[in-house]
Amino acid sequence: MIDYPWNDRAGRFSVLRVAALSLAVIPALWIAFDAATGGLGAKPLDEATHRTGDWAVRLLLVTLAVTPLRRITGWNRWVIVRRMLGLAAFAYGLAHLTLYVADQNWHLGRAVIEIAVRPYLTIGFVALAGLAVLAATSTDAAIRRLGRRWSQLHRIVYALAALAVLHFFLQSKINATEATLMMGFLLLLMGLRLAHRAGHPLSAPRTLAIVALAAAFGTAALEVLWYGLATGVPWRSVLEANLMLTPWPRPAWWVLAVGFALALVPLVRQRVGRWVRTAKSVDA
Ligand code: HEM
Repeated sequence: MIDYPWNDRAGRFSVLRVAALSLAVIPALWIAFDAATGGLGAKPLDEATHRTGDWAVRLLLVTLAVTPLRRITGWNRWVIVRRMLGLAAFAYGLAHLTLYVADQNWHLGRAVIEIAVRPYLTIGFVALAGLAVLAATSTDAAIRRLGRRWSQLHRIVYALAALAVLHFFLQSKINATEATLMMGFLLLLMGLRLAHRAGHPLSAPRTLAIVALAAAFGTAALEVLWYGLATGVPWRSVLEANLMLTPWPRPAWWVLAVGFALALVPLVRQRVGRWVRTAKSVDA
């Protein structure tokens, strides 16, 4: 039987797999379309490098969100899209490196030296090399062969995501808003993982709300630290910008909003469950 990417393991059509496939493929088509129609601006290779880097980080974080979503929603089927999303993140990382080398006029030696001497590129390279190891060990055969060591190895994905976000920060010039947002989501995901490991079930809205608050505070604090250290912007100004919701909420607010939205999921589940039980008892 042919293994179509939009089918689940049992060969049934899966809307979830279609959604993940679209998330993986549409950004690449969009970049290709812009490249073909002059939509990448005056420096197309540079713009395409940035866009593929952005999508590599975004898809990596979406991949990391699969396990917490499974625990929060109690719906195990999320797992059928994890490998596809992880491989897509790696593919965008690889395209990103290829575009970088193309931007160096394919001078491989120069690219290697640049990667070796510029810390932000070295960090990006380590992240990509790690993702390559995870991609290479994602086959069913590798999972069987590695046994318990597979999950130990794949735990490094959090460290790799942290390196990718650091690489993002280090190349950001004056505006580190998106890098801060990605770091905030990573903090949220790490918080959820820590809470679960500490024995706090992610099906409890209170746990999720506390993690959301902690991640949002962490995001604001790291933003203050980053701007203070990298640009010399006074900490008060960054903090004030974090407290105001205009002209646009700072990343900490988005992290809080997403975290609180997750906390609503078990609440809604509990309500619906109670409602269904009541309806059944009335029928009986
Ligand atoms: C050998 C590996 C890598 C190289 C050589 C590399 C190179 C670069 C370069 C040259 C830039 C643009 C810097 C500038 O314009 O000043 C960049 C930006 C970026 N890279 Fe990488 N990178 C690598 C790995 C990665 C990986 C593994 C990820 C993510 C998983 C990543 C994510 C990003 C992001 C998010 C940006 C910023 C995009 C933006 O400004 O919107 N990079 N990288």
